[in-house]
Amino acid sequence: MSPPGISIRNLRVVFEPPDRPPVVALDQISQEIPRSSFVAIVGPSGCGKSTLLNVVAGLQRAGSGSVEVHGAVVSKPRRDVGVVFQDDSTLPWRSVMDNVRFAMQVAKVGGAEQRRRAQEAIDLVGLSGFESVFPAGLSGGMRQRVALARTLALRPEVLLMDEPFAALDQQTRLLLGAEVLQIWRQTRQTVCFVTHDISEALILSQQVWVMSFRPGRIIDVIDVDLPDDRDVSVVSTPEFNRLHARVWGSLEAEAKRGFAYDQLAPAS
Ligand SMILES: Nc1ncnc2c1ncn2[C@@H]1O[C@H](COP(=O)(O)OP(=O)(O)OP(=O)(O)O)[C@@H](O)[C@H]1O
Ligand SMILES: [Mg+2]
Repeated sequence: MSPPGISIRNLRVVFEPPDRPPVVALDQISQEIPRSSFVAIVGPSGCGKSTLLNVVAGLQRAGSGSVEVHGAVVSKPRRDVGVVFQDDSTLPWRSVMDNVRFAMQVAKVGGAEQRRRAQEAIDLVGLSGFESVFPAGLSGGMRQRVALARTLALRPEVLLMDEPFAALDQQTRLLLGAEVLQIWRQTRQTVCFVTHDISEALILSQQVWVMSFRPGRIIDVIDVDLPDDRDVSVVSTPEFNRLHARVWGSLEAEAKRGFAYDQLAPAS
C-alpha cells in the first residue's frame, strides 16, 4: 500500500523568543491526509495553522515528532510540495507569464516546457488573455490567481495553501474557491488548505480539522460528506448547515479564548 500524502506524527513545536515566555505553538498533532484528498484546517488566529503548514512545507523545523510526505521525513522544502501564501507574492516588474515562469526558472525547467506549463496553468486559473499584463494592472483576486498558477505550474503532488484568499472580498473568495475545487477535481493533488472561514472550509474540503488555541492541537476532525460535484449553492442545504454548526460548536470556545488573549496581550 502506498504511504499517505501527508503523515504527521506526535508533532510539537515550541517557539522560545528571547524576550518573552516560550509559546507551545503545536502539540500532540498526529493526523494523516491520504493521497489526493483535500483537507481544510480552521482555527482561531494564532493557534498555529501557519506553523503547521510551514513544518509540512519544510520551512519550519519540528521540535519533536515528525512529518512525512509520501513516506519520506520532511527536513527541507521539496520539489513535489507547492505552497501558496496569503500575501500577494507576485513580482511587480514581471508580466503574468514571467511571474508564472519564475519558479520554473529557479527549478531549471527547460524553456519550451516552461512556456507550455505556464500557459496551461494560466488557462487553468482563468487568466488567459492576461499573459503580458503586469501585476499593477490586475485586481487582488487576479494576483492571487497568478500566485496559484505559479505554484501549479511546478506540478506539485502536494499543495499547501495558507489562507490564500484572506485579503479578498467575500464574492471573489467564493469564486476563487470554486476554481480551486475545479482545479483539484482535474489534478487530484493532495491539498491542505488553511482558512478562517468555516463555509470556505466546508465548500472545498473532504475533511475539516479544527485546531485549539495555545497549545495548537487538532480537537475535532469532521468528514465533509457533501456531494463530490458540489458548488457554492451547497451552502443553502440542511446538510451544510448541520456541518457548519458542528464545526462552529468545536471552534467557538477556542475562538473566544484566542480573542480574550488578544485583548490581554500587550501591544507590540
Ligand atoms: N518565529 C516565531 N517566533 C516566536 N513565536 C512565533 C513565531 N512564529 C509563530 N509564533 C507564535 O506561534 C503561535 C502560532 O502562530 P501561527 O502564525 O502559526 O498562527 P496562525 O494560526 O497561523 O495565526 P493566523 O490565523 O493569525 O495566521 C502564535 O502565538 C505566534 O505568535
Ligand atoms: Mg497564519
